[in-house]
Amino acid sequence: HRHLTGIDGLQPHEIAFLLDEAESWVAANRSHAAPDKRLAGLTQINAFFENSTRTLLSFEIAGKRLGADVVNMHAAQSSVKKGETLIDTAQTLNAMRADVIVIRHMASGAVRLIADKVDCPVLNAGDGRHEHPTQALLDALTIRRRKGSIAGQRVVICGDVLHSRVARSNILALTALAAEVRVCAPSTLMPAGIERMGVTPFTDFDAALVGADVVMMLRVQNERMAGGYIPSSREYRLRYGLTPERLAKLPDALVMHPGPMNRGVEIDSVVADGPQSAITEQVEMGVAVRMACLDVLTRRARGVEGWA
Ligand code: CP
Repeated sequence: HRHLTGIDGLQPHEIAFLLDEAESWVAANRSHAAPDKRLAGLTQINAFFENSTRTLLSFEIAGKRLGADVVNMHAAQSSVKKGETLIDTAQTLNAMRADVIVIRHMASGAVRLIADKVDCPVLNAGDGRHEHPTQALLDALTIRRRKGSIAGQRVVICGDVLHSRVARSNILALTALAAEVRVCAPSTLMPAGIERMGVTPFTDFDAALVGADVVMMLRVQNERMAGGYIPSSREYRLRYGLTPERLAKLPDALVMHPGPMNRGVEIDSVVADGPQSAITEQVEMGVAVRMACLDVLTRRARGVEGWA
């Protein structure tokens, strides 16, 4: 694979390989070990057309830890604001001889479009409702580290599944790695035919939670509703919020959230900050996963073996 535009198309052994590569960076990141500058001399452009805290910063930190020259393009300060098209923007970045481009865009499929127009590897940092592959990889790594394995784990993904690229990439990764995945959402926020992705849909959160090993909460994406159903925060929390009362029935379950959170809506603060929460560990794994992806995707250009 030249690009990482999604989990879709990756074989289970390729996903496991990326997790293993990421695992190899975790200890070094924690101990501030001597930096490995294997991307020295390469230029990494992070082109973000949509807001981000975790993904942008961790891609920047990951690239810098590996010695790359990292440049960030924020769409709000770019010529996109003057009406420059996506293709023209991509060709401009390409003309600057980037060695790897990381893209976040509000339109599903935009990253694929850019990947077809440039000469270097492109990594998807989230495109519309489509995919957020590095998020799924960091979530899988977090589960594997905390639970020992992914196969056989009952993972409940709850929230605004309809608008969630995180849910889509996680479903693809976790089912590929043989987890049992349940998705839970109000019927208006559940994609039609989702069971074809190998998951079991629920509209009743309490029923979905029975026997859960991992509970992954999603943000209600009010900015993507566009005239659709926006539940009141109170109503949503009552039916779909991860409250201490609900979690009390699952003392061994791991609590996850990709962030940013709506505290008091899909997750209560006492749960998000409690002992079962892996939310900050997810962020930590994000750096290791992005180091692995930047390294592996640039191997061919660097003449290094070790990727499909
Ligand atoms: N999880 C995630 O993608 O967060 P950001 O939008 O802050 O990057």
